[in-house]
Amino acid sequence: MRKGAVVALLLLSAGMTTGLSAQSSADQPATPAPTPGVAHPEIWPKYEYPVPQVAADEARVADLLKRMTLEEKIGQLVQADLCCVTPDEVRKYNLGSVLNGGNSGPYGNDLAPAADWLKLADEFYAASVDTSDGGVGIPVIWGTDAVHGHSNIIGATIFPHNIGLGAARDPELIERIGAATATEIRVTGQEWTFAPTVTVPQDYRWGRAYEGYSSDPALVASYVGAMVRGLQGPPDSGHILQRGKVIASTKHFLADGGTDRGVDQGDATIGEEALRDIHGAPYGPAIEEGVSTVMASFSSWQGVKMTGNHSLLTGVLKDRMDFEGFVVSDWNAHGQVEGCTNASCPQALLAGVDMYMAPDTWKPIWEDLLAKAKSGAIPMARIDEAVLRILRVKARLGLFEAGAPSARDLSGKWDMLGSPLHRALAREAVRKSLVLLKNQGVLPLKPGGRLLVAGDGADDIARQSGGWTLTWQGSGIDNSHFPGGTSLWRGLQNAVESAGGTAQLSPDGSFTTKPDAAIVIFGEKPYAEFQGDRASLQLDPELTAPYETMRKLKAQGIPVVAVMITGRPLYVNPALNAADAFVVAWLPGSEGGGVADMLFAGPDGQANFDFTGRLPTAWPRTANIADGALYPFGHGLTYASAAGTWTPLPEDAGAGAAGDARSFFAAGNPASSWSLHIADPDQPGTQTRITTVPAAALGGRAQVTAVDHLVQEGARRFAIAGGKSAVSLSTFEPIDISRETNGDVMLLFTVKMTDAPDSAAIALRSGADGVETASVTIPESDKFVRYGLSLKCLRDKGATMTDVSAPFALVTEGKTDFAIGEVRLGTDAEVVLPCK
Ligand code: BGC
Ligand code: BGC
Repeated sequence: MRKGAVVALLLLSAGMTTGLSAQSSADQPATPAPTPGVAHPEIWPKYEYPVPQVAADEARVADLLKRMTLEEKIGQLVQADLCCVTPDEVRKYNLGSVLNGGNSGPYGNDLAPAADWLKLADEFYAASVDTSDGGVGIPVIWGTDAVHGHSNIIGATIFPHNIGLGAARDPELIERIGAATATEIRVTGQEWTFAPTVTVPQDYRWGRAYEGYSSDPALVASYVGAMVRGLQGPPDSGHILQRGKVIASTKHFLADGGTDRGVDQGDATIGEEALRDIHGAPYGPAIEEGVSTVMASFSSWQGVKMTGNHSLLTGVLKDRMDFEGFVVSDWNAHGQVEGCTNASCPQALLAGVDMYMAPDTWKPIWEDLLAKAKSGAIPMARIDEAVLRILRVKARLGLFEAGAPSARDLSGKWDMLGSPLHRALAREAVRKSLVLLKNQGVLPLKPGGRLLVAGDGADDIARQSGGWTLTWQGSGIDNSHFPGGTSLWRGLQNAVESAGGTAQLSPDGSFTTKPDAAIVIFGEKPYAEFQGDRASLQLDPELTAPYETMRKLKAQGIPVVAVMITGRPLYVNPALNAADAFVVAWLPGSEGGGVADMLFAGPDGQANFDFTGRLPTAWPRTANIADGALYPFGHGLTYASAAGTWTPLPEDAGAGAAGDARSFFAAGNPASSWSLHIADPDQPGTQTRITTVPAAALGGRAQVTAVDHLVQEGARRFAIAGGKSAVSLSTFEPIDISRETNGDVMLLFTVKMTDAPDSAAIALRSGADGVETASVTIPESDKFVRYGLSLKCLRDKGATMTDVSAPFALVTEGKTDFAIGEVRLGTDAEVVLPCK
């Protein structure tokens, strides 16, 4: 048996996938003598691309192709990010497309107001159709990650992330969400969304799992056509822009959700049958609905990067499945193809990519493609074919007739952005997505009483919206960035107060007058892509404090309802045990009122709505994926479910439940396989490993004790009488954090500085004991502050980021006293330190 098959079987037996078709695929005839990473198109299903070729459009495209210079053709194949391109460069290089990545927005402002998006769209358009240089002037298209509503725009309706929609089991709802999203995109002038994500995640340790509807290929496949139709309109001869629609992009082709251990951009070592039956399943309905674009995945299949896989991009997708739109690559993914760099990758085009997403590398890519075309290294036929595909999509959009973005229907209709109608739809989606896992007779709550709302996530629209919301990681924003939005707390408060009750928000659960009931809102914080990868299926330790709040409230005889904000099912047995009712809210988005709708009874004492949400994937028994399911795929209670007696769940996170691979120190302890040391950096042999506290080190110069932070004894305090010292975290197995470094991730450390030293620096050890340092200033404070230092800073000083054995040391000189609460990688610094 191949390794991939073993993995698939393990997952199946563990109950962590619902891949029924994966099971049946075992009966399919095996493929003859496979070469790793080479697919056999003949074993894949055939589809028919339904979009008719309109004679007038075909004639226009053929005429353009005849008149275009090679430079103009190459330009169409390249997409640049807003960060790094001007309208004038779009004009000069005839670029086919621009995008805004998760962290870019108009005029250098990721949080630019809606009107700026439309204004800039006009500027790019005008530049693209300028023919003063004698060129043909093909209108540019702008792609954006409108992945849960028009989610980069302040004021837009933010729909639940896909995992919540998967719980709703309602394709018709999905089509309406697609239509509303298309409308909001059109208001600000873009033509293209990089959605829907049709991944079929098989391992929820993956940081992008929430972008997928379900682990079940059939459920995902049942949604895809609806979303594509909602966004694009029907696959007939009509022009997409004329209908107020946009083009869609199913992503990421293929098996982005099938990588080993759920590693983002990793390798899916599965067999071809599983590749086809699990991950390929959603592409059939997408093609049959005429999806205009497909985004190639960053990930690999059997060791071969998808962006360079001819057998899958061309053999399977284009030739066998009859996909007639164009293939766009992902964010500099071409640079990861074997033999390529970010600046040169003819391999991608030859494999079947038609447009390069080359955010900051578009110019070298443009120059390289031109040179390779001139030298014959890339056949002209391949270039013409790619340009033809792109121009056909532009013709189907009606782009050649549509005029400037601001002149099109819906443009600038600001009242449609986050309109009451769209918000009502999002609220309906929230209601339908909630999954009830426990109800010992406390729900629905009577709204007329005294309600306490606790938990750290209660009044935070950014938190409930997750990653890919206004910013890439969904970080750095607060409620003020969501005009018209409703936090879960506000939704609950509105419901209670309008029924004559009172509601109090108290994150730590303290109160002066005893409430009739408490709702404790807790769960994950926003993340995107690899920053959300985890080593096990558990909540980060610093997010579990609300468990204690639940226990305390319950001990006082107060009924407790737990509401979990999360992008994935996690081991949360302590919360399931502590609360009387447990509701999974997923990442509901801007319309938090949908949660209140489900929790309260009407005046007649009956629930206003019953729960219809069902788990879109199994819920784990422990943090260890191999321990299988606590609740199976499809599970979810209703008000009619008998409560029965609650048998307490074991509160054991499970063997092998390793911590977060990017967290080095939390809750007072180094992560497993990491150690905390103190040493005098100038004196060899002075190093002490801190295991138990209190401890003395450096010949009595340093005292190490435990202090509280988030949890009891959640930090370590270092009182150093003077001299030089280095407090560090290290591992015997050096780690590769080059990807995080490229992705603008920081080294985060949470410190309470009670007595500042004469000088301080952050040091990182890598390679063969190379140490790079950046001097820092950490002012005295009576509270913990999360500082961030860019990893790029240390790399630029010469650190080898592929081989880091100690990512963090706080080096001080002179008398000092500080406590360290947490050390990890991330982007959510409270204070970003300059690189000195
Ligand atoms: C993501 C894509 C996204 C693109 C543009 C990439 O890093 O993988 O899903 O569409 O960035 O933001
Ligand atoms: C961009 C994202 C992109 C990511 C990839 C970010 O800087 O804003 O859109 O997906 O980089 O690493």
